Amino acid sequence: SSEELDQRIADAKKELGHRLTILGHHYQRDDVIRFADYRGDSLQLARIAADLKESEYVVFCGVHFMAETTDILTGDDQIVILPDMNAGCSMADMADLEEVEECWDVLTSLYGDTIIPVTYVNSTAAIKAFVGQHGGLTVTSSNAERILTYAFNQKAKVLFLPDQHLGRNTGVKLGIPLSQMCVYDPKRMELEFPHGQEEPRMILWKGHCSVHQKFEPKHVHQVREQYPDIRVIVHPECMYETVQLADEAGSTDYIIKAIRKAPAGTKWAIGTEHNLVNRLAQEHPEQFIISLNSMICPCLTMNRIDRPHLLRSLENLVNGKEENVIRVDRETAQWAKVAIDRMLSLS
Ligand code: 13P
Ligand code: SF4
Repeated sequence: SSEELDQRIADAKKELGHRLTILGHHYQRDDVIRFADYRGDSLQLARIAADLKESEYVVFCGVHFMAETTDILTGDDQIVILPDMNAGCSMADMADLEEVEECWDVLTSLYGDTIIPVTYVNSTAAIKAFVGQHGGLTVTSSNAERILTYAFNQKAKVLFLPDQHLGRNTGVKLGIPLSQMCVYDPKRMELEFPHGQEEPRMILWKGHCSVHQKFEPKHVHQVREQYPDIRVIVHPECMYETVQLADEAGSTDYIIKAIRKAPAGTKWAIGTEHNLVNRLAQEHPEQFIISLNSMICPCLTMNRIDRPHLLRSLENLVNGKEENVIRVDRETAQWAKVAIDRMLSLS
């Protein structure tokens, strides 16, 4: 039964005591995130991982790239476990190392040594390592402006991986016109210039999040028509046109804080993952909170971490069995850490 499941998770957690830390991303299910020792957005979880000292095991409730980042930052001190190995991220899967190397060859033959690679943390450890080796750094949705500003102080052009939307939305905030952004299509190995062929300052990898892509401009028009005084807040993984129409855009942590400080009676349409929108609606009955898209928009891979998987991981550890260990090979980890540390020292 459901109670039994909760009880067994609580018992296993208690038995492991200080030997265990559970980290949970804001997109996790309610019944899983309840058990997290720390919850946060990707930047906060990376910071917590970097500072973890005492526990032997970190059970990461989130997706694969986040567990990799945790392993990279905790090094040999902690063993990182992902309760379901199928909890990937379709965006991270949109850039593989070979493709990025091809792209880099194309770009350096066109523009020489004028480019710095920057990757959203939603990418594989191999991509982070590539970026670290080529003088670049990682970025999250909560520090994108700061990191991109730094990047443009280093080089004239930025290759932004793998989310074109976060790249475009942040570039526009920094005053870069769309006409100076082009898109690299890894399938065709070609640059696309949707806004005219000016000398580009940003080269955006043609990747996206399949969840956030479901929030379209028409949804903003629809909610505003229905509720004229509604505030629209979206994650910057949403497409540019949607972000432009919204009142605010920011990381999951930014969205949570915006709702927390709003007065009672505020109406919100939120463009981000379903579990978080739902939780905010439950936690703030004094406000009116709906999803920007009335169709449920879950991240299927985040949702793969459920109580049976969490329980299995914990009971395995109680029995001395380490299953679903995330371990990035040390050379990759070393270069990926260079890219992540550059980011952490700036944010
Ligand atoms: P943040 O945690 O940085 O807001 O990112 C959201 C996300 O899509 C993680 O996959
Ligand atoms: Fe990846 Fe999008 Fe899911 Fe985040 S919400 S983990 S970017 S698929």
